[in-house]
Amino acid sequence: MLITFEGIDGAGKSTQIEELVHALAARGTEAITLREPGGTAVAEKIRHILLESSHEISPIGELLLFSASRAELIQHVVMPALANGKTVILDRFFDSTTAYQGYGRGIDLELLRSIIAIATCGIKPDITFCLDLEPEEALKRKFSKTSIPLAFEGDVLDRMERSGLEFYHNVRRGYLDIARLNSSRFVLLNALDPVAVIHNRILALLNDRFPT
Ligand code: TMP
Repeated sequence: MLITFEGIDGAGKSTQIEELVHALAARGTEAITLREPGGTAVAEKIRHILLESSHEISPIGELLLFSASRAELIQHVVMPALANGKTVILDRFFDSTTAYQGYGRGIDLELLRSIIAIATCGIKPDITFCLDLEPEEALKRKFSKTSIPLAFEGDVLDRMERSGLEFYHNVRRGYLDIARLNSSRFVLLNALDPVAVIHNRILALLNDRFPT
């Protein structure tokens, strides 16, 4: 089973993934957790180029780097794990490409679909949980953890996060469209709800759709 988590930066994915991993372990299901971009030695190097560098990267270059990282992770880790009957939880997958490179950077969605199909070998999540949050709120959360004033600058932000507020509004619009078009797999959750409420909703949905 492949479970993915999506949402704009700062929406609380990592917390929910941790909670889910604990809940699954308590039921005797060991889940493998991976993040995109990353998860193999090569994919982590690509992650560094994409997020930590201050180089300018063109939208198409960015798309291909995210896709190269994905191809490595899928071929070397995700496909073997799924073939062995493991549960895999991915912190971001191809919906991030649609939202960020499609709606955020403006790359043609048809072109994205073909590149996604190549990089994923056609693998799709069984279910996707997307934590929905206004970009302004996500930014506030990010800076409440630091002493830096509210602004899209400074070393606190990675290369993607420096893309600006309008970019993030487009990314969010992307996620809302994806939700509308993929209602059977893609679940929107209000990231403003308390952590425990979101977690219980995730468990309930999993029990509902995939009873053990
Ligand atoms: P994160 O690991 O902190 O979520 O950072 C990953 C960043 O990369 C985040 O800003 C979303 C972005 N991203 C894309 O733009 N496209 C993609 O396909 C993926 C997987 C991530």
